[in-house]
Amino acid sequence: MFKSKTASEIYLPFIVFLLLILSGCKNNTNFNEDLIIEKKVDSLLNLMTLNEKIGQMSQVRHFADMNSDDDIATKFIGSVIHTQGPNPGKDALEWQNRFKALQEKALSTRLGIPLLFGVDAVHGQNTFQGATIFPHNIGLGATQNTTLVKKAAQITALEVQATGFNWTFSPCVAIPFNEKWGRVYEAFSENTALTTKMAKASIEGLQGNLKDSLTVMATAKHFIGDGATDFGVEGGNTSLSMKEVAEKLLPPYKAAVKAKVGAIMVSFNSLKGISMHAHNVLVNDTLKKNLGFDGVVISDWKGYSRFGKIDIINAGVDMVMAVDGDLDVFQNGLKDAVKNNLVTMDRINDAVKRILRQKFRLGLFKNPYPTPSLISKIGSLNHRNKAKQAVRESLVLLKNNNNTLPIHKNLKKIVVVGEHANNTGLQSGGWTMFWQGTGENYKGATTILEGIKNNTIADVIYDKEATENHFDADIAIIVVGETPYAEMFGDITDGKGDRKLTLSKKHQKYIAKYTEKGVKTVVILISGRPLVTTKQINSSDAFIAAWLPGSEGDGVAEVLFGDYDFKGKLPHSWPKSVEDFNGKYGVNFWDKSKKPLFDFGFGLTYKNN
Ligand code: BGC
Repeated sequence: MFKSKTASEIYLPFIVFLLLILSGCKNNTNFNEDLIIEKKVDSLLNLMTLNEKIGQMSQVRHFADMNSDDDIATKFIGSVIHTQGPNPGKDALEWQNRFKALQEKALSTRLGIPLLFGVDAVHGQNTFQGATIFPHNIGLGATQNTTLVKKAAQITALEVQATGFNWTFSPCVAIPFNEKWGRVYEAFSENTALTTKMAKASIEGLQGNLKDSLTVMATAKHFIGDGATDFGVEGGNTSLSMKEVAEKLLPPYKAAVKAKVGAIMVSFNSLKGISMHAHNVLVNDTLKKNLGFDGVVISDWKGYSRFGKIDIINAGVDMVMAVDGDLDVFQNGLKDAVKNNLVTMDRINDAVKRILRQKFRLGLFKNPYPTPSLISKIGSLNHRNKAKQAVRESLVLLKNNNNTLPIHKNLKKIVVVGEHANNTGLQSGGWTMFWQGTGENYKGATTILEGIKNNTIADVIYDKEATENHFDADIAIIVVGETPYAEMFGDITDGKGDRKLTLSKKHQKYIAKYTEKGVKTVVILISGRPLVTTKQINSSDAFIAAWLPGSEGDGVAEVLFGDYDFKGKLPHSWPKSVEDFNGKYGVNFWDKSKKPLFDFGFGLTYKNN
């Protein structure tokens, strides 16, 4: 028999449905957006030929790797990288226009898939003269300030966008086990928990909600074990067990995936003899399946031909830095491999989906071009003030006898010694204007000496190489340290290279010259890692680890003269002797018999002095 329904019976299901939608609306926004993106990705993928798919998996340089710009269209290139080599133009507008022209080529293709433009902006937009350059990550690690690190990353993202890019190959979330490694300064800390917090802050700052034109896609790198190779050799082998990898090295990646990092770069190193580029268990199983990473796994430089060709694709690499002659080798090699069933169509589809997904998440299909109105923000006062704050908070005070610091502003004579005191290139380290950094001043940056002069009424004498004798000075500020380096050029190879774990003889003499005469002496160490300076710490009155502060050298002076207190805490335990460097020591590492000179987390302040 037909039973007529009451009004409440008729409307109840609709009301419940509506309430469910409304209540879940907030949490569901991302979910719904993700679903819509997945639909778009699938529809686009369905239209693509194998050539178009392999094209998306290719990244090339804007000035090399192609016969002409037309290759962007004819080879269906997915991404362009700017790194060491000719600049895209004279000023930011020219950079933007260069990338706009390449983007137009990509959009002229049948499916009009936009390009990703990537750059190693590892401490600010460090490839651009006039950009705000932050302390390298080791200095940011010393600040322990996640709010500051997030803000620094936001500024970096904006300046990266302002020069025409939508992707940065940062942050480096390595855990350096050995100070001999040439990339220690690219990492935040030897400490896993601190690195994990910093990685999250950095990625959140760089990516924001990904869609707006002020943020960029981030890359957590280098997966995994880059800083844990035996003897600290860049690209070497690590003997860590899977358990140690999971405990010590994986947490920053977990945090990165949780923060929805867009890309993860695989590392040059191998793990127990298996190249990370071809490490199926760690890339496919751990990173993609277990951690649920749904973004792009990108190879490192020339990774295809260096680390096993199609093996790297089968292990889970989605996009290849097809540089230095690798483009055709990669594209043809992969095409043949698919035809011969050596790489499945499923694997190719998975790789391409990940790339398209990020392009949709970035909103590139709607907004493929750079924004000219951002250009005026590059190196702006606001940005520089934030970088200055980062410098101040990164400084670690290791010694301050008899209140040598802060320096009185009304002393009569201050002598400043050392080429690092008046050179923004030297104070900034590698990955500054050039891959290997520079020994020259660069645009918009302030030296430590300039900062000192701005902060005192004293007569400030600069004795660059300690050739003069200013023993009548009230205080000597001696600035010493490492010259810039990047990657393997920074490795310390036990006598085989020029680099050492100690100060150069020349710099040791600068300090000895003044301390031996009884002049009150402050040493500022500019370095990408702790150096063995036990003797110099003992002989000086005050000693500061300033890391690689970047463009705002006056941040150092503001703390020296007491406008601000010291806040920085050691992101690495500090070695007592060269012998101690055979492995790390301290709480985190294996050789517990070795005690560092200073523990991880050490740092004096004026208050507790
Ligand atoms: C480095 C990466 C960098 C890439 C692109 C490689 O040599 O290991 O960290 O992102 O070059 O410049």
